Amino acid sequence: MNLNGQHIFVTGGADGIGAAIVLDTLQAGARTSFCDINEAKGQAYVAALTSQGFDVRFAKADVGQFESLKIAHDILVSEFGPVNGAVNNAGVNSNADPVEMTDDEWNKFMNVDLKSVWHTAKLVLPAMRAAKKGSIVNIASIHARMTYPKYFPYAAAKSGVIGLTHNLALDEGANNIRTNAVSPGYTLTPLLQEWFDRLPEKAAESMAVQPMARMGEPSEIAKVVTFLLSDAASFVNGADWIVDGGLHARFA
Ligand SMILES: NC(=O)c1ccc[n+]([C@@H]2O[C@H](COP(=O)([O-])OP(=O)(O)OC[C@H]3O[C@@H](n4cnc5c(N)ncnc54)[C@H](O)[C@@H]3O)[C@@H](O)[C@H]2O)c1
Repeated sequence: MNLNGQHIFVTGGADGIGAAIVLDTLQAGARTSFCDINEAKGQAYVAALTSQGFDVRFAKADVGQFESLKIAHDILVSEFGPVNGAVNNAGVNSNADPVEMTDDEWNKFMNVDLKSVWHTAKLVLPAMRAAKKGSIVNIASIHARMTYPKYFPYAAAKSGVIGLTHNLALDEGANNIRTNAVSPGYTLTPLLQEWFDRLPEKAAESMAVQPMARMGEPSEIAKVVTFLLSDAASFVNGADWIVDGGLHARFA
């Protein structure tokens, strides 16, 4: 899986799965740039990676706001050139009651978990179309197919991410731009830990259903993303790769 010389842009790259994707793509030879809403973590991560000899850049952005995302994208492109591969990874959880949730909460959440996926595509596609080559990987979730009580906005957003992935695959395939989704299962990141901290009974409950008797590591998601970004996946388009240790195969 070779990404030599390619500019890979990752959203939400300062922590969790995004940070693992940043590292894995760098190890595959890419010049990787990333944005994140957490500036301190982003700066610290870029300093640590640079000290290890990697060519990496960071810019602060809130992917839920187009202007903020555009400013970061433009800064990073001015340093590394047009984006060859983009990873829409930034996302947050939403546990909500369908009666209690407000329009404002819904809109803010959807701006981050769904609309930003379109916004990133809007920013990177012109250069990819001109180059007649590109790869976009959208991090969805097994929640797009099978979900959990009180997760309705998250399941809706992640289903939307897969629908958007299918459509971009049709719209841009003839331009040699491939768009795919990756749907992780339980992956040990700060996002999952925050959920377990809030609802401690969920930790044991979630562990009990794991077919491989463990949860996933961020690096195990990142490997699949790097594959999809690379030419090794040259005929993979419009797919949703489930990386969940077999959880989706479980009936109950
Ligand atoms: N961890 C899991 O079990 C799991 C399972 C399925 C899908 N996912 C998805 O994987 C992706 C990454 O999740 P994670 O577990 O690594 O989360 P995480 O919270 O551990 O890390 C997410 C990163 O995104 C950044 N971020 C959050 N909101 C942002 C915004 N508005 N703009 C820019 N950056 C922002 C955070 O600062 C953080 O660095 C998400 O899309 C999530 O829905 C995670």
